[in-house]
Amino acid sequence: MRAVILAAGQGTRLRPVTLTMPKPLVPVANKPLIVFALDVLRNAGLTEIAIVVNDMSSPIVSQLGNGSSLGVRLDYIVQREQLGLAHAINLCQPFVGDKPFCVFLGDNIFQDNMESLLRDFPESDADATIALGEVPDPTRFGVAEIKEGKIVRLVEKPKDPPSNYGVAGVYLFRSSIFEAIANIRPSWRNELEITDAIQYLVTNGKNVNPYVLSGWWIDAGKPDSIIQANQLVMGEMPYTPPPDDKAMIQGKCDISHRVQLGEGCQIIDSVVRGPVIIGANVTIRNSFIGPYTAIGDNAIIESSEIDASIVMKNCTVRNIAGRIDSSLLADNSQLTSATHVPVSHRFILAENSFVQL
Ligand code: DAU
Repeated sequence: MRAVILAAGQGTRLRPVTLTMPKPLVPVANKPLIVFALDVLRNAGLTEIAIVVNDMSSPIVSQLGNGSSLGVRLDYIVQREQLGLAHAINLCQPFVGDKPFCVFLGDNIFQDNMESLLRDFPESDADATIALGEVPDPTRFGVAEIKEGKIVRLVEKPKDPPSNYGVAGVYLFRSSIFEAIANIRPSWRNELEITDAIQYLVTNGKNVNPYVLSGWWIDAGKPDSIIQANQLVMGEMPYTPPPDDKAMIQGKCDISHRVQLGEGCQIIDSVVRGPVIIGANVTIRNSFIGPYTAIGDNAIIESSEIDASIVMKNCTVRNIAGRIDSSLLADNSQLTSATHVPVSHRFILAENSFVQL
């Protein structure tokens, strides 16, 4: 079975991080979000995958290339205008042909490995199987109503949800979905909704099955949900003994178990309390790095305290008073304190930046 990953969105809810970095490349536990989806697919034996991007010049294309380093074969499909999930899926028809196929949204992340769902669908009697997760506030999602083990109704972002089962961004289809897409109209948000196409299948008597996810599921569209996903993924890091490489760890350090150090790191006079992931060539000096923190390659952290945060590549954090908590610093960010008068706050912020002092 082939798979497609939809990754052509504008990531507006995650600005300014997504001004230069597409949402699927935002790192969670130092791994791009989209690579979690690729890992799930490959582990279930699906290696022929197309990614829908908004342009071939997208960093997704340059970063993932033909997929060989991830053990998959990647194709790219361009969706110039983001006219909706059903529009994006329709563009994939030449790639999937008339065979069953799987669709992943590139910004969702799951604990469930979905192996049985992905392996069993082609032989099942379903026209579509939709992954669902129980959520406290379903109004932000597509929502499914289930009766006698079948999906009997689907609504996109309803004010009055028929259940707590949110549509979780993994769909299995047969070619009947293309006829359904041809028969729907744009929604109130002017998008061709895949939810409406699935409802068309239901209305026309097709078998649409639910698959209720086990474990957590995060739609990682906003900064808070990215930070939450980072905590959930890092919470699953297995026990590893405290690192003791003398070339990397110098001075008076206290480094706990479940701390991963990348090549060429220097940890000097610092406390690191896992689970923590530190990328390559990172320098940490006279600092505290608390649980659920992921630090990208080439970052420099000096005389600062950081907890439960994502610090991406090439960032500098220096001489910050007070603890930095639940924060997201995009590539090349600099966070320092004034070293000369006037001792004032100074900001150079992109659109939609957020600062809390
Ligand atoms: O996250 C789950 C929800 O995803 C479902 O519960 C909803 O039923 C489904 O419609 C979708 O809702 P969102 O409003 O969250 O979708 P979003 O616009 O964030 O797009 C999801 C992914 O699909 C994202 O990676 C961008 C990509 N995309 C989106 C559109 C609109 C495309 O590739 N092309 C598009 O035209």
